[in-house]
Amino acid sequence: MNGVRRALISDIHGNFEALQTVLADIAAQEVSVIYCLGDIIGYGPNPRECLDHVMRKCRKVVLGNHDQAAMVDPEGFNPVALQAVYWTRDQLEKGPGGASKINGRWDFLGELPRSHSEGELLFVHGSPREPTNEYVFPEDIYNQHKLEALFAYVEKYCFQGHTHIPGVFTHDFNFITPEVCDYEYELTDDKAMINVGSVGQPRDGDSRACYVIFDDVRRVVTFRRVEYPSSATRDKIYDISELDNMLGARLISGR
Ligand SMILES: [Fe+2]
Repeated sequence: MNGVRRALISDIHGNFEALQTVLADIAAQEVSVIYCLGDIIGYGPNPRECLDHVMRKCRKVVLGNHDQAAMVDPEGFNPVALQAVYWTRDQLEKGPGGASKINGRWDFLGELPRSHSEGELLFVHGSPREPTNEYVFPEDIYNQHKLEALFAYVEKYCFQGHTHIPGVFTHDFNFITPEVCDYEYELTDDKAMINVGSVGQPRDGDSRACYVIFDDVRRVVTFRRVEYPSSATRDKIYDISELDNMLGARLISGR
């Protein structure tokens, strides 16, 4: 490894208040680069602003299923998510800056890779086997067949998002939550999959924005949780009829 401290953010989902708060926290952490593991947009009220910031601030970005859904009609989305997709798509078709700004965002989305690897590190949105769409939930530790199949795609460490539930999947079938490891987990020589949690729509019962700092020399994963003005984001969602109120309420409960 080469002595890089990476901030890993994922699942921003158009939540600009959370993204701004997380970027400010990252700025105080002596981080060299920021990577984004997808789902910049979808569900939240500020897709353009979040895209513009990710385009400017992140060294590497991989495609999330909601980023893809803005471009290609998705399969398997529930009606609430689908309505949010159509509203998000409409937002990306307009806004200040004219055609060059609008086309720049579409080009950026259209060129996102599904995965990124650097030596023994793999970065995806969903899973190492199916980088954009497959979920790896904590309860999958009881499905050893699935986890073994996933680990076969991992050289050493895989960083992922998608479930919005942060934690470390160890190769001996444990799931270590941030609370259990006191927000800091030292990786071993064994393979691991690390879910970096969600910036803009946490679902692990902790409503604070979540991201990870990975120090590749110490091999330490640090889970950061930061308070952000979630009621402001909730109220924006309540004011947009195409975004279901549930999408606002869940920001407060963290579920
Ligand atoms: Fe997501």
